[in-house]
This record gives sequence, C-alpha cells and structure tokens, in this order.
Amino acid sequence: MRLLLLNGPNLNLLGQREPGVYGVMTLKAIEADLLAQAEAEAVQLECFQSNFEGALVDRIHQAIGQVQGILINAGAYTHTSIALRDALLGAAIPYVELHLSNTHAREGFRHHSYLADRAVGVVSGFGALSYRLALEGLLAHLRQPQQ
Ligand code: DQA
Repeated sequence: MRLLLLNGPNLNLLGQREPGVYGVMTLKAIEADLLAQAEAEAVQLECFQSNFEGALVDRIHQAIGQVQGILINAGAYTHTSIALRDALLGAAIPYVELHLSNTHAREGFRHHSYLADRAVGVVSGFGALSYRLALEGLLAHLRQPQQ
C-alpha cells in the first residue's frame, strides 16, 4: 500500500516555530518517525511539504492512481482553501486531516476546516503524536473489509 503525507505552509519551521503550541520536534524528525511506523506496517509512505497552495494541489493531482490514502496537515490552508478541498475531492483519495494543536481550543478562525467534513477522520491536539494516530486511523480505515 502507498500513502502520501502532505504538510502545508510553515510546517517546515517545526522545531523553532511557536514551540509552546507546536512542540519541539522538527518536521524531518516527525517524517522519519512516521516512515518507520509505515515501514513496520509494510506501507510505502511519501512525504511532501510546501508553503504554496498550488504546489500542494499539484501534488494531490500527481497522487491520483498512485496512492491509496493521504494524511494531510494543511496548516493555515485548512481554514482558507477551497482549492485544496476541491483537489482532494477531485482526486477521490480517502484522507485524514491532522493538526498538532487542538484547533478548536484556539482562535475562532481556526475552528472551521474546509477539509474536515469529507475526511475519513480528523486528529487534532496531540502534538507530533497526531501524525502517528492519523496514520493508524487511515490504515484501519483502508484495511477494513469492503462493506
Ligand atoms: C496547524 C493548525 C493551523 O491552524 C495552523 O495554521 C498551522 C498548524 C496544526 O498542526 O496545529 O499552521 O495545522
């Protein structure tokens, strides 16, 4: 099985960015951790981060027919991007939305997500652990027998 991990804007700054909110783990370390978890599950995981909305849309398009599921921390685009929503729905690839912080415990503008209502599930508020939980949830969803 092949899966794609997408990280949106400013997540390349993890480790130094608002550590009280996002923790001290770098994105490289989070990705390494997730790659190990994926390997243990016999899953091929590709990781992609961009600060550009269009680059994320392009990467989702490239994933069509290539991956069975997507893990996405869209960063601030979660709250603004109809384009990312359309790309995910257009690609028709099941996805899990994830966040390091609990977006519902923060500013009002972070409470709405353009992605959440069509996601397999949402994981928010567990720091770097959100990535692991999201992978576990997506795999459980993809591996369940077809209804
Ligand atoms: C975030 C939450 C978003 O509101 C914020 O814009 C981010 C990070 C998180 O992982 O907690 O960039 O997605």
